[in-house]
Amino acid sequence: GRVAVIYGGNSAERPVSLNSGQAVYNALTAAGVNAFLLDLYGPAGELNPVEQLQQEKIDAAFLILHGRVGEDGVIQGLLEMMAIPYTGSRVAASALGMDKLRSKQLFVGAGLPTPPFRVLRTESDLSLCAAELDFPLMIKPAHEGSSIGMHKVDNASDLRSAWEDACRYDQSVIAEKWITGAEFTVAVLNNKALPAIRLETPHDFYDYDAKYEANDTRYLFDDTLSPEKDNELLRLSEQAFIAIGCKSWGRVDVMQDKEGHFYLLEVNTTPGMTDHSLVPMAAKQAGISFEQLVVEILKEAN
Ligand code: DAL
Ligand code: MG
Repeated sequence: GRVAVIYGGNSAERPVSLNSGQAVYNALTAAGVNAFLLDLYGPAGELNPVEQLQQEKIDAAFLILHGRVGEDGVIQGLLEMMAIPYTGSRVAASALGMDKLRSKQLFVGAGLPTPPFRVLRTESDLSLCAAELDFPLMIKPAHEGSSIGMHKVDNASDLRSAWEDACRYDQSVIAEKWITGAEFTVAVLNNKALPAIRLETPHDFYDYDAKYEANDTRYLFDDTLSPEKDNELLRLSEQAFIAIGCKSWGRVDVMQDKEGHFYLLEVNTTPGMTDHSLVPMAAKQAGISFEQLVVEILKEAN
């Protein structure tokens, strides 16, 4: 059958998706799959996404859109209605995974550790937040990816401008206690954790620049964790995946404080798949090539 690699989209992460989609398309083609690229909201922009999908004969969709409309359940719902099988998480899990606030509420509800946080709706929430949580804080738009609109804030006087900037991206903004320590990411494939990657960046955190532009980020495999801690991290990541209701594949971001405790940040239901992205890196460590990885993800489409 014909497999549409649906990429692009109109979120702030469009440039990332263009790279991910091209890499997925190349790998599927190399694996002998009859794939074609479908750039949602692409240059032939006179057509809306529904018309774009209707124009093609599509037997299955490989979804590699990042951010809103692509990763948040919207396109998933449209494909459900068109009875087109698609990769990855279903509608509800996609929507919840895209929402950092609801994700954290689900982690708390499931008894899983996540950094203390507060919702910043109005100006008065800023002073309450400064009184309740210790600095530094991370200010995050609830529905963005790739660290877009995120700010590390070291003191109360910088809180307002960070909040105002985050509000440019989202009506829903959260403040989250900054965890000083190590940053990990755990890829999930066929609902099972792949080897954890530790991220080391000279930046304050693994921000947009560290993710896609800079060459000074280091990606390290199990060089600091004991086997017990490593196992704890992998199981916690699988539990986070389950708490959100995810399916097939994704990536869980986790912090570890200086005392060794882990804290869940979020689950990405359509993580980056550029050739230097984290999921392919973890797969490779597990002996799974990029080609095998995309074929495995496609197999689970339904
Ligand atoms: N949101 C980006 C694409 C990621 O999680 O990899
Ligand atoms: Mg994300």
